[in-house]
Amino acid sequence: MTSVKRRSGSAFRHPATVAAAAAALGALLATNAVAFLRGMESPWLLGTVILSDIAVIGIGIFVAVREVLVAEQRSDSTRAQLDAIVDSAMDAVITVDERQEIVLFNGAAEQVFGIGRERVLGGKLERLIPQRFRAAHHGHVEGFGRTGITSRRMGDVTTLWALRQDDGTEFPIEASISQATDAGRRYFTVILRDITRRKAAEDALLRSQRELRELSARVLEAREEEKAHIARELHDELGQLLTALKMDLSWFRERLPGELQDKAAEMNALLDQTVAATRRISADLRPLMLDDLGLAEAARWLAEDFSTRSGIPCRLEISGAEALESASKPVATAAYRAIQESLTNIARHAAAKSAWATLAAIDGQLHFEMEDDGRGIAPEDLGKTRSLGLKGMRERIAYLGGALEISRAPRGGTRVRVRLPLPGGLPGEAT
Ligand SMILES: Nc1ncnc2c1ncn2[C@@H]1O[C@H](COP(=O)(O)OP(=O)(O)OP(=O)(O)O)[C@@H](O)[C@H]1O
Ligand SMILES: [Mg+2]
Repeated sequence: MTSVKRRSGSAFRHPATVAAAAAALGALLATNAVAFLRGMESPWLLGTVILSDIAVIGIGIFVAVREVLVAEQRSDSTRAQLDAIVDSAMDAVITVDERQEIVLFNGAAEQVFGIGRERVLGGKLERLIPQRFRAAHHGHVEGFGRTGITSRRMGDVTTLWALRQDDGTEFPIEASISQATDAGRRYFTVILRDITRRKAAEDALLRSQRELRELSARVLEAREEEKAHIARELHDELGQLLTALKMDLSWFRERLPGELQDKAAEMNALLDQTVAATRRISADLRPLMLDDLGLAEAARWLAEDFSTRSGIPCRLEISGAEALESASKPVATAAYRAIQESLTNIARHAAAKSAWATLAAIDGQLHFEMEDDGRGIAPEDLGKTRSLGLKGMRERIAYLGGALEISRAPRGGTRVRVRLPLPGGLPGEAT
């Protein structure tokens, strides 16, 4: 750290010196007046006064010149201190005048741009900016000058780029600009930092997030395909076999003696249950009806099945059923799974008396809302490590450009809100 020594003020400005000088001047003026009135009556007095006047004028000139020199020295030393501070700054500092010609270029700027100050001072600022941004940058600085604002961050939303002078490569920067007027001339100072490393880390993070999202979407897709495959097998193979078995059993029953009829009826009931269970498992695995009947009907079936199984009434309102059917397969599946997961969660966790749901197509978006009057979801429930239902739902929806919101319902329970894009809707609108 440079220590700054305070200089004492000039002795000529000391109050005692000023008072003594004023008194001496007063006395001299009075003597001047007397000498003037007496004129040649007292030539010795006149001579003395003239000599005193010359001496006072001489001293005055000496003091004035000395004061100017001291002030100049002082401002030179202040400037040198300021220059040293600017030069040792960690960030690059560049000052340009109104013509955007460089008047200050500190040590950090030399390092960042890979060029000595002697080669840039007096030159245009634009040499430090990639060609394609030059015109816009020039305009921005002029525009900033007109605003009258003293300082602001540059490029708030976009990344700014600068041009290294030794190898001509571009690098990202973070910069702020300020303006000041000195002796009637306006100067702009840009303080900037090379953020190559930070940007590379940010980009890598974004890239890995995107890759993870794609990976999880692909895993979900593969799971869906696998489920669909098993569901079809269950439905078609096992379903067919069970139906054949039922037909065989009824053939048997016609021929069986009376005492075995009861047993055969029990077998028949068991077979009916097995067929129903196969259908249910198959439907849980893969909503075949989503393919066969469409999203609206499949949602209706889910709500009814939930009510029957759980004993909790669920009212589902559907609007825009036709537009809903335009949903792409992944969007329809995501919506179906969101409805399924919300209902399962209500049955498992909510202790609710009722549930309400709406499924609608509004302005090119699929809207789904599920609400219950149960105990409500706590914020920490969302972070449970072993719970995957809501996390999977969020991932799947985000990957499709949609949004999921889980909050407290006005009735006190939980509200799940899903937005998903439909064909023709504005991209990104759902987020
Ligand atoms: N409707 C709801 N009412 C009250 N709590 C809820 C509701 N839905 C979810 N929760 C809470 O949020 C947690 C996380 O739910 P999530 O669906 O992610 O996982 P899970 O149901 O516990 O397990 P799974 O991975 O099988 O879905 C639940 O464990 C539960 O505590
Ligand atoms: Mg769950």
